[in-house]
Amino acid sequence: MVAQRKFFVIGNWKMNVDKSRIDSIVKFMSAASLDSDTEAVVGCPSCYLSYARQQLPSNIGVAAQNCYKVARGNFSGEISPAMIQDCGCEWVILGHPERRTVFSEPDELISEKVAHAQQAGMKIVACVCETKEDREAGRTQEVLAAQMASLAEGISDWSRVVVAFEALWASNTGVLATPDQVQEALQQLRQWLHHNVSRQAADTTRIIYAGSVSSTNCQELARLPDLDGFLVGSAALKPDIVDIINSRSSYVAKLVNLFSNLETSPLGI
Ligand code: PGA
Repeated sequence: MVAQRKFFVIGNWKMNVDKSRIDSIVKFMSAASLDSDTEAVVGCPSCYLSYARQQLPSNIGVAAQNCYKVARGNFSGEISPAMIQDCGCEWVILGHPERRTVFSEPDELISEKVAHAQQAGMKIVACVCETKEDREAGRTQEVLAAQMASLAEGISDWSRVVVAFEALWASNTGVLATPDQVQEALQQLRQWLHHNVSRQAADTTRIIYAGSVSSTNCQELARLPDLDGFLVGSAALKPDIVDIINSRSSYVAKLVNLFSNLETSPLGI
């Protein structure tokens, strides 16, 4: 039997907030009715971790957007899992595509960060991504498998990891990934877990999608069988994030409505 995976939505604020922007996001997120069957988290710049944690209701988790691979030391500009936890936060995003591409973080460093964050007891959103060139060359599966293998070296407990797949070519480019393209990549990642980790890890690990997720496309994507949620960038700064958090329940409610209408309709035989 396939295990139930709780829907997971993380709104990644990137480097796009200050205190007043956080205040306005906290206002609309706190006022909204959020589906309790979705785990909601925000990805916050390190200097505002404590502030965001204090302002947000406790049902919304807070993640750092990166951290280093040791607890302390002479590493100017870095933060450690211990510091994130000291700010009251339990999540960290590692291997975000912007870390991989803009800051040239190699697989090996990301894997070391993942290993240390796991040992420190953090929950991790571990990212893998494909570029436009990867897709055009038909290398998607190979590229994702290599990133997964490297991440897996640092992971001993998959129950505390969410895997995020980002189609970089669909992030802020105006080009959207189709539901079929998203499903295919997520299915490949789940199969990778099955073959290289365990059947249990494949059944229970949440795999989420990133790349221009919006209130317009989230419901269609939320019905994909291998999709367990979203990593959201620009839409996370707007009230749209509420629709995205609630996208799975909105889709289920639509289905229930459809079936009850069919039952009561004279043609619904
Ligand atoms: P996007 O960003 O939703 O703006 O494409 C996603 C991400 O890179 O975290």
